Amino acid sequence: TSSTPEERFEQIIAADSRVEPRDWMPEAYRKTLIRQISQHAHSEIIGMQPEGNWITRAPSLKRKAILMAKVQDEAGHGLYLYSAAQTLGMPREQMTQDLIDGKAKYSSIFNYPTPTWADMGAIGWLVDGAAICNQVPLCRASYGPYARAMVRICKEESFHQRQGFEILLSLMQGTDAQRRMAQDAVDRWYWPSLMMFGPPDEQSPNSAQSMAWKIKRFSNDELRQRFVSMLVPQAEALGVTLPDPNLRWNAETGRYDMSEIDWTEFFDVLAGRGPMNAERRRARREAHESGAWVREAAAEYARKQALRSER
Ligand code: ACO
Repeated sequence: TSSTPEERFEQIIAADSRVEPRDWMPEAYRKTLIRQISQHAHSEIIGMQPEGNWITRAPSLKRKAILMAKVQDEAGHGLYLYSAAQTLGMPREQMTQDLIDGKAKYSSIFNYPTPTWADMGAIGWLVDGAAICNQVPLCRASYGPYARAMVRICKEESFHQRQGFEILLSLMQGTDAQRRMAQDAVDRWYWPSLMMFGPPDEQSPNSAQSMAWKIKRFSNDELRQRFVSMLVPQAEALGVTLPDPNLRWNAETGRYDMSEIDWTEFFDVLAGRGPMNAERRRARREAHESGAWVREAAAEYARKQALRSER
């Protein structure tokens, strides 16, 4: 039976199999994947900064080694994801330039400061916890290279979340001052971590189409609910309080009731007005510029190797 490329694409989506780089795909599908995957890659790369801030001051050699490994994992995640976006025809140089020029989005969460060691715990527990909730379903995304990258990334994220939980647990078993520090970090990261899932469903312009294409499997609000239901028993185990007096299980709706999220703050951060937006972009630009000689040397090496193999 002969079918058009459009029909073959629709069949792949309907059969829940994977679209691969050489397959025909609608331009809008390609564009939305480039948008989401490049933003995701940028988030990993910018996400190295808040924790990189603590590598030199980690409280022990063991903590330092773990934190370094974690930040390196994030660099790796960024690289897999840039590669996945490249399979869609987006050049890496352009993605980097867009990030440095402030034209590209990355996750709102990385625009908050990390003033204390407890922030390393709260980031691991809350931020990486939210990332796992969001990313496990992406392992089944319809675009093959993205889905496969997510499988590895999720394994590493689970380790990141456990290490964050363990940092907070140690602090909660420590002195009063350490317990206060842990609670303060949870208070500061809780709401921003809920914002990671994106705007409420009725204000999410991309969700319906991304779900029809099976890039997203759950809506923003569904994932936010899942995340909260994962946090509640873990908060209890830790002995920390989630900073929402209205948070409670509602047996009638089968969902958690919660206070309204401050969406003004979310949209301000997206518009570049978060506490650390300018600093994150400045540090990224500086790192890119000071790495120019490495790129030049690598290109020159590749050129010489190519000449040699021609001879
Ligand atoms: N931070 C920054 N931008 C966001 C955020 C956020 N937390 N949430 C939504 N947005 C942006 C969207 O990118 C979109 O912008 P665009 O249309 O200019 O690209 C806009 O707000 C509207 O949102 P949605 O229509 O809901 O967008 P989408 O369907 O893409 O859903 C989501 C957003 C859930 C973040 C999705 O893109 C996704 O799952 N991305 C992959 C995961 C990811 O990027 N994680 C990064 C943080 S976790 C980590 O990497 C450690």
